[in-house]
Amino acid sequence: MANNEKVAVARLLEAADKFGTPLYVYNEAKIEAQCRRVTEQFHGLPVNWLYAIKANDNPFIMEIIQNQGIGFDTVSYEEVLLSNKFTTDPARIFYTENSMSDVEMDAAIDMGVVLNIGSLNRLERFFQHPKSTECCIRINPAIGDGHHARVNTGDPESKFGIRIGLIEDAVKMAEKYGKKITGIHAHIGSGIKEPENLIAAMKVMLELSQEFPHLEYINFGGGMPTPYRDSDQTWDMARFSELASPVLHRDLEKRPDDFQYFFEPGRWFVAEAGYLLTRVQTIKDQVETTYLGTDTGMHHLMRPIIYDSYHRVVNLNSYNEAADQLYTISGNICESGDILAFDRMMPEAKMGDILAICDAGAYGMTMASQYNRRALPAEVLLKTDGSMKLIRPALSPSETVRDFLDRCGYDKA
Ligand code: LLP
Repeated sequence: MANNEKVAVARLLEAADKFGTPLYVYNEAKIEAQCRRVTEQFHGLPVNWLYAIKANDNPFIMEIIQNQGIGFDTVSYEEVLLSNKFTTDPARIFYTENSMSDVEMDAAIDMGVVLNIGSLNRLERFFQHPKSTECCIRINPAIGDGHHARVNTGDPESKFGIRIGLIEDAVKMAEKYGKKITGIHAHIGSGIKEPENLIAAMKVMLELSQEFPHLEYINFGGGMPTPYRDSDQTWDMARFSELASPVLHRDLEKRPDDFQYFFEPGRWFVAEAGYLLTRVQTIKDQVETTYLGTDTGMHHLMRPIIYDSYHRVVNLNSYNEAADQLYTISGNICESGDILAFDRMMPEAKMGDILAICDAGAYGMTMASQYNRRALPAEVLLKTDGSMKLIRPALSPSETVRDFLDRCGYDKA
């Protein structure tokens, strides 16, 4: 057993002890390492990285990533407002709209963020706005990928992007209103299986870019996967850069000075840095299944129930013992689908053991809810200097109920 593994287990157990469970814990050093793994690539090319904050928008996490020279990619007006707290230059915030309202559009224009528009009717509204000047458009490149059908965004029938056949209309519309399309964007999906698929989509975008007379940048989206299973291939960022760089170098030759390329992953930066710690509350033998019942569940980590996602589960109290028991890890929500992990061989568990649900740093807390009126978990940062910082305290059960009643404006209870 590696020494650093022992240290990691000890720190996680200490966090659970100090802050209680359920608890999201993030490792700052890992987030910083993931940032460096991208910023070190694409030598000599104007490639920029944005962080899709939907993966994890805890402000302390956003700050770590921003400090590594990475900007923010947002997909809602609320995310724009949040990101805007981190910058004096709203033009560094990229806002990919999705069924945006007029009110949201007007506010985004006033703020000066970069709007990425994915439908012709929204584009027309944008061009009609007296203060609008230029924008990016999201194209559906008809190449999709992703770890699950629900996160494949480049499929030609997905709701995202302007389809290739309508690009000419978009360009003509800009001309008609005397405004500019200065950027084009595509995001083919989340958890891309093959770097080659992303490169194929990039080539489609480079080809389509010729239709746009005022182009200043191209955003190729995010989607770099996380190896959730031991058998999953790790996305080799250096190899991806090696494959994509010649394509971009060739493209750059015909571009004006200051032309920029962007990528905007979310999961990449944070997934592997996060753990959801939970305590075993019930050990139950049904006919053929032994359940370890925990103090968390689908309300804190929705990925297993929505996408059949796999997360490694480690019993921190016995992690180096022989894995000779078969367990299904269940949550504390009143639904039989509330299962975090099926059929895992693990060392024998005891009541009160702490389980770490691994690779939970992306799309964990941001998708969590108070279903069954359960409290949300706290979040803790394991800092690079060895300290631990509570970066979002949990409300207690009674505070959760009080807060709920107050928000409803119900003052009779
Ligand atoms: N850009 C856009 C426009 C996106 O829609 C997304 C994610 C990203 C970037 C970042 O994708 P990433 O690099 O994180 O794969 N809840 C799902 C993932 C949904 C992602 C949707 N869009 C999950 O837990 O797997």
